[in-house]
Amino acid sequence: MTDKELIELAKKAGNNSYSPYSHFKVGAALLAKDGRVFCGCNVENVSFGAANCAERTAVFTAIAQGCREFEKIAVSGMREGEEYQKTMPCGICRQVLSEFCTPSFEVITEKDNELSKTTLAELLPFSFKSF
Ligand code: THU
Repeated sequence: MTDKELIELAKKAGNNSYSPYSHFKVGAALLAKDGRVFCGCNVENVSFGAANCAERTAVFTAIAQGCREFEKIAVSGMREGEEYQKTMPCGICRQVLSEFCTPSFEVITEKDNELSKTTLAELLPFSFKSF
């Protein structure tokens, strides 16, 4: 699965975004080590704190299907009616990703048809690992 194919799946998932409050549509496509892809979108709520990000929707969907090993995630984000913009996982999503993914796990996003790629290690250095 190429990064481009994965971001296209993220965009498709973003079409299902339920975001009547922020009007910001996010999609995520999570590639598992076994080749499966789990998609998610952001799901907002009138009680704002109950919202769920696209990345966590994708991770929780995978976990619920018994899948726990991942290679990379593509994230698409766009204000309704505008172009896609670089969209990186929020702090809570970075923490959730760090529960299941190695530091070399890749995070891909796209703007103006150009992909940018980083790693979980870069996004969440010195992460909390045990207690
Ligand atoms: N959002 C995501 O789905 N993923 C992110 O990484 C950042 C933010 C959502 C949450 C909310 O529904 C909207 O984008 C605006 O913050």
